[in-house]
Amino acid sequence: MEAWIGAQRLHLGAEAEVISGSWFGRPAILKKRKPRGWRHPDLDKHLTSKRMTNEIKLTIWLAEMGAPVPAIWDVDIEEGTIIMEQIDGKPLIEVLQSKQYDDKLLHNVGKAIRFFHRNAICHGDLSTNNILINSDGNAILIDLGLATREYELEGFGIDLHVLHEILRASHPNIENAMDEVLAGYVELDEEMGQAPEAPGGQPPSAKDVVKRLEQIMRRVRYHGG
Ligand SMILES: Nc1ncnc2c1ncn2[C@@H]1O[C@H](COP(=O)(O)OP(=O)(O)OP(=O)(O)O)[C@@H](O)[C@H]1O
Ligand SMILES: [Mg+2]
Repeated sequence: MEAWIGAQRLHLGAEAEVISGSWFGRPAILKKRKPRGWRHPDLDKHLTSKRMTNEIKLTIWLAEMGAPVPAIWDVDIEEGTIIMEQIDGKPLIEVLQSKQYDDKLLHNVGKAIRFFHRNAICHGDLSTNNILINSDGNAILIDLGLATREYELEGFGIDLHVLHEILRASHPNIENAMDEVLAGYVELDEEMGQAPEAPGGQPPSAKDVVKRLEQIMRRVRYHGG
């Protein structure tokens, strides 16, 4: 049996091509980083493999900690490809547009984000396309190419701020959307206790991150950024 069998292209973006298929018979995704024509080929290869290695390393680390991320099954740095578990779900943007979801949805999104932050990882690109919702209504975060290890409050606050801006712009009809996300965000610490010690120290508490988000929002309101 061939390990990977491709079936259908799901996505062709500026950075990556995503194909669905199967890997040893299991539903899988092949993500291939695209070369960027305008960069020198050597530099391009270097940057591409750096971002990919980052995505792989941090996704595997988070999976080990029990975070909601797809399992990574195979990688080929030379080819710029990752084979991972296919999440059976829909992007948050579509779920919100469909208006068919239960009250826990945004709560669960907040919990998934807090799971990252508890383990000192900033996602770096929290758009409603990078948050997948499975059939149980739980959130799985994908696309970790811009994720970083973080210990300063500011990075975590900005992660939340990015999502807040997107929710505000594309789903203004959903009142208190961010309040729901933040309630889930804080609730995870109440359920799990203090964040575990990470390699670079103690990540900040959920409540402190929410306070920082409020500061960032005030800053943006007065100074526009
Ligand atoms: N593990 C997965 N399971 C299910 N769907 C996935 C998975 N990974 C990616 N996808 C789908 O493919 C889309 C693009 O993947 P991803 O977000 O990782 O690429 P990208 O880096 O955003 O690409 P670009 O920046 O070029 O748009 C996702 O929005 C999602 O719909
Ligand atoms: Mg994406």
